[in-house]
Amino acid sequence: MQNNTDNGHIERIEQLKREKNAIILAHNYERPEIRAVADVVSGSLGLAEAANETSADIIVVCGVDFMAEMAAVMNPDRKVISPVRNATCPLAQQLSPRKLRDAKRANPNSEVLLYMNAHASAIALADCVCTAANALTVAEAMDHSSPILFGPDRCVSYYISKRTGRELIAVPENGACPVHQKISLEALIAAKAAHPRAKVVAHPECRPEVQDRTDYIGSTGGIVKFCKEADAGEFLVATDSGVSRMLEKESPEKTFYPISDALVCPRMKVPTLAKVEAALVNEKFRVVVPQEIADAARIPIERMLELS
Ligand code: 13P
Ligand code: SF4
Repeated sequence: MQNNTDNGHIERIEQLKREKNAIILAHNYERPEIRAVADVVSGSLGLAEAANETSADIIVVCGVDFMAEMAAVMNPDRKVISPVRNATCPLAQQLSPRKLRDAKRANPNSEVLLYMNAHASAIALADCVCTAANALTVAEAMDHSSPILFGPDRCVSYYISKRTGRELIAVPENGACPVHQKISLEALIAAKAAHPRAKVVAHPECRPEVQDRTDYIGSTGGIVKFCKEADAGEFLVATDSGVSRMLEKESPEKTFYPISDALVCPRMKVPTLAKVEAALVNEKFRVVVPQEIADAARIPIERMLELS
């Protein structure tokens, strides 16, 4: 519920957006009050599309670091701001350019497809990127005569190879999102026993054994769309519990059970209204990707956008 302090922040944020020709892009995992002041609320693919299309002078990214870097790569002449310093995604940190270079040397005939949860310095070495929303389409569009070197999430790699039959080589071998790894098969089985009529929806960052027991797997945006459109009244949601809370608001006639209320991506909850206002006032914290890396990273991102 909003209080007077929140209302004050919201008014000033809206005024600053107008004065400075700024927009706010927020990921689906952000706090509800941040989503409410955002111009675009979406999964990573929607944020990339919005960053690619905007004509704003200032782009405030409420998400994690690779999302802000992607906006900076696509907008070298605009100011990209993050309301927090070091909003690191621990999955993106698992793939260094050096690891990727070594893997490319070891697999010289492969094409490199990276999950967008990677730093621009790694994306600069890739042939293409994808998100959970377009992973299958993009993987199918890659050269079928070569294996795909895919990183940094081995669970997303499992999801792609299972559905497309493509040969994927995971780099690193065990890269994974620490938040989605918390969803164990035992927890899912217990939740299904407690809610036997519920459809199970999951993000492809979930463990393979969890993926194998779902009714739907997709991106955060895909999960929201599926739950809204599905002819079912109850859902077990295997991703950040904020998605269940968002769905409860948007589809009040349906019931959503997060696998656990404790399942939250902590970095996504750091931006607050006060921090967003301060970011717009001070135009900080500026996200800058060195030009050489940005120029190289833009190519695989543009290729993904063309394929989507
Ligand atoms: P989406 O691309 O599905 O929005 O997910 C991003 C993410 O980091 C999920 O953990
Ligand atoms: Fe990164 Fe996992 Fe958080 Fe997604 S949920 S932003 S992959 S840590």
